[in-house]
Amino acid sequence: AQISIDGKNSKKISNMLTGMFFEDINYAADGGLYAELIQNRDFEYSLHDKKGSDKNWNETMAWSGNFKVEKANPIHPNNSHYALLTKSKISNSGFDGIPLKANEKYDFSVFAKGAIFTVKLIGSNGETLVEATLKPNTSWKKITVVLKVAKTVSDAHLEISSDGEVAVDMVSLFPQKTFKNHKNGLRADLAETIADMHPKFVRFPGGCVAHGDGIGNIYRWKNTIGPLESRTPMRNIWGYHQSLGLGYFEYFQFCEDLGALPVPVLAAGVPCQNSSDGGAGQQFGIPMEDMDEYVQDVLDLIEYANGPVTSVWGKKRAEAGHPKPFNLKYVGIGNEDLISDVFEERYRMIVKAVQKKYPEITIIGTVGPFFEGTDYNEGWAIANDLKLPIVDEHYYQSPGWFINNQNFYDSYDRSESKVYLGEYASRGNKFYNALAEALYLTAIERNGDVVTMASYAPLLAREKHTQWNPDLIYFTGNEVKPTVNYFVQKLYGQNPGDIYLQSKIKLSDANNEVHKRIGVSVVQDNASGDLIVKLVNMLPVAVIPSIDVSNLTTTEKANYTTFSGTPESTTARPISHTITVTAAFSKELPAYSFTVIRMKTK
Ligand code: AHR
Repeated sequence: AQISIDGKNSKKISNMLTGMFFEDINYAADGGLYAELIQNRDFEYSLHDKKGSDKNWNETMAWSGNFKVEKANPIHPNNSHYALLTKSKISNSGFDGIPLKANEKYDFSVFAKGAIFTVKLIGSNGETLVEATLKPNTSWKKITVVLKVAKTVSDAHLEISSDGEVAVDMVSLFPQKTFKNHKNGLRADLAETIADMHPKFVRFPGGCVAHGDGIGNIYRWKNTIGPLESRTPMRNIWGYHQSLGLGYFEYFQFCEDLGALPVPVLAAGVPCQNSSDGGAGQQFGIPMEDMDEYVQDVLDLIEYANGPVTSVWGKKRAEAGHPKPFNLKYVGIGNEDLISDVFEERYRMIVKAVQKKYPEITIIGTVGPFFEGTDYNEGWAIANDLKLPIVDEHYYQSPGWFINNQNFYDSYDRSESKVYLGEYASRGNKFYNALAEALYLTAIERNGDVVTMASYAPLLAREKHTQWNPDLIYFTGNEVKPTVNYFVQKLYGQNPGDIYLQSKIKLSDANNEVHKRIGVSVVQDNASGDLIVKLVNMLPVAVIPSIDVSNLTTTEKANYTTFSGTPESTTARPISHTITVTAAFSKELPAYSFTVIRMKTK
């Protein structure tokens, strides 16, 4: 293959192309990124979470022992249940057991009232690893103690016992070592794996979680901030429970820690496909008489993120420990919504209010779902009319679709809204899938003047608790298992560009099918001045390129990364080394491989 890179013919592309889609699906939040080790700490799990299909999924879920669930005089009305022990003991098994590390410290906290009680961490063999005795008041009070264990175990449980009568709620156990060591923080190993991808933005809290599956299930950001015991837990659309301990403050803080721009997505006043709780057929949205309040919630979010500490919502951010603004620039409205009249009326109302009050905020609209045989036309017509700067497109397709549709954005009108490819994946975690995604991303970079952002979805999945496959990063209580797809995202995240340089490929085989299976993208990163060549070979044979860079002035050495494997592989990993530029440009690209060459310019 002859590849010539034209140093003169270039265009500006988005410098925030790859980012992260975070949704609480597959236990991504509770039991996942959120480092809380106690499951159902607040006794608020409910039959309703599972829509009644699992009778054990109730206020006692993950707890065993002798206790009553009480509701009289709770610590907070939003947290109405608690446990009452009478000369008994209860234990919590966490999320598939509580993983503990030798010599690490854990913050135990609980709201309690009544008699003295003992808290223990116990290994699966019955061995007590650590214990402490705590003395509550006669009224609700938060008590804390630091626990340290001498052994590493993967499946401990927590036990609380009392010889008298004691009420407990918000029973919590956090490792002190969280990502950036925040209290109420995030699991360090998972967060670091995400940070290694160098995401330029983080979209949250979904996906479908953002709009829920009924008006009552719409994610309300105000319910997710403030003291943990006052947050309003809710059913998760994916059939489990959201404690909302990982709420909007924690999301904003995570974005800041990652150096990524926050991209909250808010429901467009309608739940998933304009559904109602349990109902079918009819289209539903927030009643119009309640829409002013909902629109105000959206505006208040911007004030919460960016407003001065003297503003109502800016003050709440400061009280939570962050007087400085969170630098919110983007807000998404709507997620894969059915483009109906019910939707349109509410969507326009929200968009117009944000445009009016916060013209500096970039609104990302939605153009509805994309299925085989449908298109985005209706959503695009509204977006054009509203002059939206960006719209959100989603597609989950086969690897073949990604190979065959590399021209998807070539003909997009550059004068219309830009695109955020908010969710995409090629339906598999084999190396062939990862390569199809790498290939498609060469086309996304080529169209980086119209596609401003792209995020693989979903991001996280706890093994044995998945509602959606494939995902980017799997995990258990103490292991992180990135997929081959993850390494593609990471290579793109770590090698972004601001300028796209045109290149030409000449293949000895003129066959169109062959052409489609070779991808090239050349970008320049403004900050470092580095030139980055990405090469994807999806052919079953090696290809020897001859790359002509006579128009460019690079230094002698290049960083050369090869990522290759069999199409079925799930264990392939990229390997990097330094190489001379001349050697890099004629080095064989293995069959089924993704190569990144990074050079310094003179
Ligand atoms: O990523 C999983 C789901 O796919 C998202 O929640 C939704 O937006 C899409 O249908």
